[in-house]
Amino acid sequence: MATAIFYGSSTGNTESAAKQIFKKLGGDGVLDIFDIASVKVEKISEYEKLIIGTSTWGDGDLQDDWDSVFEKFKNIDFSNKTVAIFGLGDQEEYPDEFVGGMWTLYEAAKAKGAKIIGEWPIEGYNHDSSKAQDGEHFIGLALDEDNQSNMTDERIDTWCEQIRSEILN
Ligand SMILES: Cc1cc2nc3c(=O)[nH]c(=O)nc-3n(C[C@H](O)[C@H](O)[C@H](O)COP(=O)(O)O)c2cc1C
Repeated sequence: MATAIFYGSSTGNTESAAKQIFKKLGGDGVLDIFDIASVKVEKISEYEKLIIGTSTWGDGDLQDDWDSVFEKFKNIDFSNKTVAIFGLGDQEEYPDEFVGGMWTLYEAAKAKGAKIIGEWPIEGYNHDSSKAQDGEHFIGLALDEDNQSNMTDERIDTWCEQIRSEILN
């Protein structure tokens, strides 16, 4: 298998999104899926194509399980790897730090040579600012189960179609 999803989730929202993305892209036999809390972070090195998901905690910070392995994550060689990122956040409670966690993973993977795909338009969100925003786009798919759960299915479907040809072999 060349593609895997790695996610970190504290209350289950990122986990649900990860499982939805997994199913949408073909599920068992097509790609693998791992909770970063239950696998060695070095496992990432075994895949050429990666989908990485995190929620945001604290004030724009990485989800705890990702945070615990972040020093090792930063040392992974991402050259020749294609990475798509998704992030869960709450744009109403944290309008200045919306989905900041995904930026932390993005920066680290990019610094180690990753080809990042899957940017997502900021249209339809009410946040004020986000580290994960680059101009009119987020650097990955932004999901908000706290305020816009009714939009999650459609966002995931659209994003999966957008990345499908590049993230699957
Ligand atoms: C204490 C706390 C801090 C949070 N901080 C942020 C934040 O800085 N930015 C953001 O976008 N969301 C923030 N959130 C919202 C979570 O990221 C959001 O609820 C997410 O869906 C949780 O996903 P998970 O269950 O996969 O961990 C915070 C939530 C809590 C309870």
